[in-house]
Amino acid sequence: MISGMTYLNFVGGKWVPSESGATFENRNPANTDDLIGLFPDSTIGDAEGAIAAARHAFESWRLVPAPKRAEILFKAAHLIATRKEEFARDMTREMGKVLDETRGDVQEAIDMTYFLAAEGRRLHGQTAPSELRDKFAMSLRQPIGVCSLITPWNFPMAIPSWKIIPALVCGNTVVLKPSELAPLSSINFVKVLEEAGVPAGVVNLVTGGPSVGEILTTHRDVAVVSFTGSTAVGKLVNQNAAPFFKKVHLEMGGKNAIMIMDDANLELALEGCLWGGFGTTGQRCTAASRVIAHEKVHDRFVEGFIKRAASLRVGDGLDAATQMGPSISEKQLQKVMSYVEIGKQEGATIARGGKRLTSGPHAKGFFHEPTVFTGVTPQMRIAREEIFGPVVSVIKCASVDEAVAITNDVIYGLSASIYTQDINRAFKAMRDVYTGIFYVNAPTIGAEVHLPFGGTKATGNGHREAGLASLDVFSEWKSIYVDFSGKLQRAQIDTENI
Ligand code: UN1
Repeated sequence: MISGMTYLNFVGGKWVPSESGATFENRNPANTDDLIGLFPDSTIGDAEGAIAAARHAFESWRLVPAPKRAEILFKAAHLIATRKEEFARDMTREMGKVLDETRGDVQEAIDMTYFLAAEGRRLHGQTAPSELRDKFAMSLRQPIGVCSLITPWNFPMAIPSWKIIPALVCGNTVVLKPSELAPLSSINFVKVLEEAGVPAGVVNLVTGGPSVGEILTTHRDVAVVSFTGSTAVGKLVNQNAAPFFKKVHLEMGGKNAIMIMDDANLELALEGCLWGGFGTTGQRCTAASRVIAHEKVHDRFVEGFIKRAASLRVGDGLDAATQMGPSISEKQLQKVMSYVEIGKQEGATIARGGKRLTSGPHAKGFFHEPTVFTGVTPQMRIAREEIFGPVVSVIKCASVDEAVAITNDVIYGLSASIYTQDINRAFKAMRDVYTGIFYVNAPTIGAEVHLPFGGTKATGNGHREAGLASLDVFSEWKSIYVDFSGKLQRAQIDTENI
């Protein structure tokens, strides 16, 4: 698979270069001298080849009994577990988050693989009594065909697993296009699937840019498109796929809020806001980029939060002392810096941070100070738009009702949380916040694999991944009626004769 540091596509069970021979570079965002490798800059033809391989393999994979498909996937989960440390290190090098977190990312892939492989012995349908005598009624899940999977760089092994494993256990075949900013973790994952015995053509991987993404979302032989990334690109994916009536699953942006009530355990809330806001350098779609603090505790919260943000050690994620890594790229860092300017111009106060880090250990990476804005009002852009960086906006509120209203007043609806000791407030917020995920006395991040993951409004398009809900993305219901009467029985008509 690897020749020197040149990586290859995986098509029809073979590791191959792009037909053009072109490659792109990927570098460590903590130290741009560190070249991770060269990856195929694939052409439309490469992607078409992968789709054809997946289309061909579908005809046999769909007939492999689901418990047998699952056996292969269990083996893959086991293999990943034995290589967890190596995969975590590769991931920290390629996308910057600290080792504890990349270990978590690999663990999430292991958990998802075990959890959904077990569906190979379930994939339950329903049986139901028929209206008519001597007739049997049931429904079952059927695979759909070739699935295009387009994944982001922030969870570069976990998110591919959320899509590949349910797709395979249901009997589909896939073409994966990982982000150009973190392709190595996907290659590690696919390599393990190959080793576990997934047959040729069932899983294909093509690295490259937007033209690969476009063909994966428009090709006539693609039946399902599952995309995680920005809302802007998700919209494009949806438009591309719409004329062909493909099944489209979208997982997009967030502007998640932590609400802190005046009765909250403030120490706990401070810890939660630090982890939710600056974990993964704020580069999670579930990141707590807004804190909505009750006016009675607002000042005490801000004081403690600034102190904690200031004490975070920013640096290379491979260093065990580091608590926050770099942004993924120069472009992403520029976006963070532009929002810092926007916040200033809007009249918010930088209570802590606000600057790029450029000297000493930070000279060769994309580092930024953990940044806290106070005096933020709900209408400001820094309170409404996804920044995807280490920037938290603190907003004051006067009641749980106001906090809920502010939480809901954005275009996104992924995750939210409340810190309170009052069960009535907790349940009220749990009911009234319109998001796909909600936490009580915990930050907005940390979803577990066996529950549905996804969001409302501009975060998603009604589907969920993870949990059993993911089976609904990658299978279609077939209702089956078996008439064993030997005569014509007419539903809704022959009711008198029964
Ligand atoms: C993402 O933010 O893109 O719930 C995924 C969490 C993680 C997954 C995050 N388990 O924060």
